[in-house]
Amino acid sequence: MTTQLHGAYSIPVEAIDVSDPQLYQDDTWYPYFERLRRDAPVHWCRESRYGPYWSVCKYKDIMQVEVNHQTYSSELGGIQIENPPDEFVVSNFIRVDPPKHDEQRKVVSPIVAPANLAEMEATIRERTIRVLEGLPRNETFDWVERVSIELTTMMLATLFDFPWEERRKLTYWSDVAIANVNAPDAPVHSHAERFEELRKMAERMGELYDERAKQPPKFDLLSMLAHGPATQNMPLREFMGNLALLIVGGNDTTRNSMTGGLWTLSQHPHEYQKLRDNPALITSLVPEIIRYVTPVIHMRRTATQDTELGGQQVRAGDKVVMWYVSGNRDPDAIEDPDNFIIDRPRPRQHLSFGFGIHRCVGNRLAELQLRVLWEELLPRHPVIEVLAPPRRTYSNFIHGMRSMPVRIPLH
Ligand code: HEM
Repeated sequence: MTTQLHGAYSIPVEAIDVSDPQLYQDDTWYPYFERLRRDAPVHWCRESRYGPYWSVCKYKDIMQVEVNHQTYSSELGGIQIENPPDEFVVSNFIRVDPPKHDEQRKVVSPIVAPANLAEMEATIRERTIRVLEGLPRNETFDWVERVSIELTTMMLATLFDFPWEERRKLTYWSDVAIANVNAPDAPVHSHAERFEELRKMAERMGELYDERAKQPPKFDLLSMLAHGPATQNMPLREFMGNLALLIVGGNDTTRNSMTGGLWTLSQHPHEYQKLRDNPALITSLVPEIIRYVTPVIHMRRTATQDTELGGQQVRAGDKVVMWYVSGNRDPDAIEDPDNFIIDRPRPRQHLSFGFGIHRCVGNRLAELQLRVLWEELLPRHPVIEVLAPPRRTYSNFIHGMRSMPVRIPLH
């Protein structure tokens, strides 16, 4: 950390490039954003592997971008700092502007609305208990593999009523969709390969959709889409794009909050003890984990016109990157932001779910899964030893954790 602190403060501020995925894999991004918030909160990086871009680092400036979708488009250049090659773009509502965004979001959002989630809670709980009771004792195992991936995959399989024995395909497709194709351990190594794998996903989902359309309506995502008057006629490509969005949106982010939560608690033993002493704190623990972990590192917009942001002149066509990792550590918006405090008075004040018209549609589902996990985990396994830090993903977009060795003591 000392070297990194040094690096972040010893180079000219113009030379800082926070798009380097290495910063997130090594978990050394923090001092760079501290410096940017202090010296150049809306910062122009002239040269990077993704071309020039603006970094928006303060909470209030990020909010300004989020709420002004007329000036900051998701459609012009997509939502990641890296422009995907045009021929491989899959259309879905996270990367389009109104009116299309609003129409499509309206179709999907009732499925993850609180009333429906209440119906799913019992299934989520029963499956969570099964996973937790199957964990080994006094033996090192990978928390990511045995718990985080298993639970989020089961959740997705439940949501789609996807064939149980094929459920790991959902995990694989989600990994493929967000992979940095330049990372050595990525599941695909080119945009073409990614597109081909996602095409296979579309094919399998299409088969299931057709089956559900012929059966009487049931309570799952595919059946609801197949029978809903507003969605029956959605063009196939768009329909598939939106399914992919739900798979990705709901998978990695929640998975990494499950790993990041345990890791962070293990680094803050006093907070962990506070939680054991008072499990009612799970209600504020969950949003605090989501803030602290910040599973989505950034979202990108493209300026549709010349405008001013934080005293800087943004030009039409510029890339504007909202760094949620930085906004969530902004002391002007969140008190004592670098500390992990499980009983914060306003724990939901964070940017991890974004804001404005694209604010995460699955936020309640994510919170529900995390709440159930901690409610069932604490009485069964109050002590979990984390044996090494998580191995992190090479990505500037998703704060991924690939493995984390843990052990549950016998008593
Ligand atoms: C802790 C877990 C999660 C985090 C941190 C997260 C984060 C985000 C963020 C940052 C955005 C973009 C917000 C913006 O641009 O302002 C987003 C959008 C979205 N998320 Fe999540 N998400 C999570 C869980 C989920 C789950 C469980 C689902 C689905 C079941 C989901 C589905 C979506 C969808 C469909 C969108 C697009 C919304 C739109 O464009 O209108 N997410 N999420």
